[in-house]
Amino acid sequence: MRKKIEMTVSLVEYQLTELSLDEMKLLEKAQELMSKAYAPYSEFYVGASVMLDNGEIFAANNQENVSFPVGTCAERIALGYAMANFPTNRPVKIAIVAKKIGLDRLANVTPCGMCRQAINEYELKFNKPIEILILTPENTVLKAEGVENFLPFRFNNLND
Ligand code: THU
Repeated sequence: MRKKIEMTVSLVEYQLTELSLDEMKLLEKAQELMSKAYAPYSEFYVGASVMLDNGEIFAANNQENVSFPVGTCAERIALGYAMANFPTNRPVKIAIVAKKIGLDRLANVTPCGMCRQAINEYELKFNKPIEILILTPENTVLKAEGVENFLPFRFNNLND
């Protein structure tokens, strides 16, 4: 028998009415910052908000550049800013929301590969999963218990 390694990943869908007040606040912040994105090239506006274990929320949006690879995603700006200011407070949840300019509904979004690795870094730092919430075009929320659901077989160990 050939060895086969399998991993199950899952996103669970919730109605907005099932969320906690903190989670609603987190989604609201992400939406507020989404509308302030600087995304003149893709016109894909993304907002991300991070809640720390002290209750602080930091939100950000994508910041693009005429030299495309220089642009940075909303998630990494929000996480970077939160971790720069509160390096000892664990990120508990991150919410993400996106909209293509000109469309009257939200976009389907999931964190890009680089952002998955960045989220992974803070799971490693604090040795705990970070919950990921995504507001969908149907106005429901997809929740992942940790980044492993987006990045199975992730690289997280330099020592063996
Ligand atoms: N983007 C984010 O900010 N976060 C995501 O999760 C997906 C992609 C940005 C990068 C770029 O500015 C634009 O969305 C289109 O890829």
